[in-house]
Formats: sequence, structure tokens, C-alpha cells
Amino acid sequence: MKKIGGLVKNKTLKARIIGIGSYVPKKILSNADLEKMVDTSDEWIVTRTGIRERRIAAESEYTSHMGFEAAKKAIQESKISPDAIDFILVATITPDYMFPSTACLIQEKLGLKNVPCLDVSAACSGFLYALKIAASFVEKGAYKNVLVVAADKMSAITNYNDRSTCVLFGDGAFSCIVSMKGKGFELREVALGADGEQADLLKLPAGGSRKPASLETVSEKEHYICMGGNETFKHAVRRMEMISKECLDKVGFTEKDISWLIPHQANERIITAIAKRFEHLDDDRVYKVIQKYGNTSASSIGIALDELKKKGCIKKGEHLLLTVFGAGFTWGAALLTFTGGK
Ligand code: UT7
Repeated sequence: MKKIGGLVKNKTLKARIIGIGSYVPKKILSNADLEKMVDTSDEWIVTRTGIRERRIAAESEYTSHMGFEAAKKAIQESKISPDAIDFILVATITPDYMFPSTACLIQEKLGLKNVPCLDVSAACSGFLYALKIAASFVEKGAYKNVLVVAADKMSAITNYNDRSTCVLFGDGAFSCIVSMKGKGFELREVALGADGEQADLLKLPAGGSRKPASLETVSEKEHYICMGGNETFKHAVRRMEMISKECLDKVGFTEKDISWLIPHQANERIITAIAKRFEHLDDDRVYKVIQKYGNTSASSIGIALDELKKKGCIKKGEHLLLTVFGAGFTWGAALLTFTGGK
């Protein structure tokens, strides 16, 4: 323990991720399928976005189902008893209902009676926002084992007649357990930001208190994602670059200390632009799953992290930088150190 300016700073006080898991639905929607639905081509989609296919949940498969499947895997990997979970956080913009929260629905599926539940709305940045909250909870001793779920059924809010958005999104879920004890990923830093002035560039126009559902909102297709693609693209690159640097600065690291980079999987060209900051990293150290899953919103970097770890690619002691960007606008970056474990 070190005393700094009257405050006691415990240098070992760092939350960690002790178990992770992800889930994607079985059904594949390929670029060839989309060619039959809208005026697009595999060539356009691949060159402009890097996406080849994405997963689509069944009609009766909701965000809570996908989140539950991912949560079971995270709990199993963490080796804690489900009863040890004392808070549930769910990052989503496609909750099963406006209320109750999807966190409550997942609590019920897991049979975790009385555990407090909360949904976090930060769009594609949702996982890192929830991670920061979970880390603060366990570091302050408010809770011991927080279940974090990041899940979105983007197909429920995607207009499959709009070629500028329907080629981008897919469904999926990720989950992790955040605790103070156990092996996995130590959380060195999570840096976040937001700019509400850009709220109109990426939104779901109707269905909230501003524009409740009506015949008009349905006929105007205002219950689907509405995005200014070009502008969003520029902000995404700028903000993820900026927050990545801020995150590294906070722990006294430089780009050279990073072994793996996992940027938000929204567009391969955005990923390439961010990767330029990390010139020492080989292409295969900038991890991508976008070609298989498209943009799965809150779960996108989690699904990539889970796949990379399950492949056994991450070595003990390696540092990973994760960065996200989403509606709001919101953004974030997290620096994790792999401390081993299954
Ligand atoms: O997760 C949150 C963050 N999301 C993002 O960061 C997404 C950011 N934006 C993007 O990824 C890109 O802006 C898009 C992929 C959405 C669009 O790519 P773009 O290179 O910026 O294309 P554009 O919007 O400038 O459109 C170029 C052309 C247009 O045709 P004209 O006006 O030049 O004749 C579009 O109508 O491409 C057309 N277009 C398409 N053509 C074939 C747009 N979508 C398609 C399509 N297939 N699917």
C-alpha cells in the first residue's frame, strides 16, 4: 500500500476477467443471399466492408437467449459456482423489451434469484462500458463476481430493403465474469468517451418516448437503424485512434508494448486505418472476425477475443488493446494483460 496525497493507493487492486464465452446463431446470411434481396454485389460488400457473411438469429431466438448461451460458457470457464455471481450487467441496444431489462431475463434463465440486474445502453461500445462498471464494482468491493453480457439481435432492427445498412450487421453475444481473484485477463485500464452532439448520425428514430410506435413510424420504416455511413466512418477512425492512445498513456505504455489489437468489427477499412498506428504488429496480430460475423454491435470485440483465446494464440504476459466505437457517439479502449488460465 502506498500513501499518495492523503489517499491510500493499493497498486495490486486490479479487476480481472476470469472466464469468457460467446455465442452466434446457426443461420448464415451470405453476400450471395443479400444479392437476391437488395441491389448489391459480393464484390461491393467485400471491397467496401470486408464482410462475407453474418449470423441471423431465429425468429424465436432473442437477445436474452443469445446472452444466456454466452453467459453459461463464461461461467463454466471461470469455474465459479453460478451462485457466486452477485451482479448482472447486460450491454445491449436490442433488448427483448423496452422494460424489464434483458439482465433480469437472463437472471431468470440462470436461476439466480435476488441478484441485482442492469442493462447498459452504449451501442457498439456497450461491452467496454459494462466492463468498466463491473471493474469499478469489484475493485471497490461492492460486488465480488459480476456477470457481464454483451448481446445484440441486430437483425431485429435492420431494414433488409436498405442496402446501405443491411449488409453490415449480424447477431451474436459475448459474456465474461469480472472478479478480483483468478487467472485470465487483468484489466490494466478501460478508457471511455462520448459525444452526444453526434446522436443523429446513428440512431433508431422511433419506438422511444420521442416518437412512440404508430402506423406512421412503421410505414416510414423508423424502427430500423438509420446511419450516416460516411460521417460515422470518419468519427469511428478518429475516436478509436484517440482513445487507444489515451488508454495506453494512462498506464505508461506505447503502441510497441501491445501484442494484439482487437478493434470494433464494423468495417475492415476502419480496422486497417486503426492498425496503421500499430505498424510493428503483423496483420495477423490485428484480430478480425468481421468477415464471418459482420458488425455484431456490443458483442463484436468480445466474440473476437473469445475466438483468439480459444485458438490458444495468446501467450501469458501478452498485452491486448481492445477498442470500440458506436452510436451516441460512444467509444472506448481497454488494455488487458493475459495472466494465463484455460
Ligand atoms: O458500429 C457502429 C459504427 N459503424 C460504422 O462505423 C460504419 C461506418 N460506415 C461504413 O462502414 C461505410 O460508410 C459504409 C459501408 C456504410 C458505406 O461505405 P462507403 O464506402 O462509405 O459508401 P458510400 O456510402 O459512400 O456509398 C458509395 C456508393 C453509393 O452510390 P453512389 O451514390 O455513389 O451511386 C451508394 O449508394 O455505394 C452505394 N452503396 C452500395 N452499393 C452496392 C451503398 N451501399 C451499397 C451496397 N451495395 N450494399
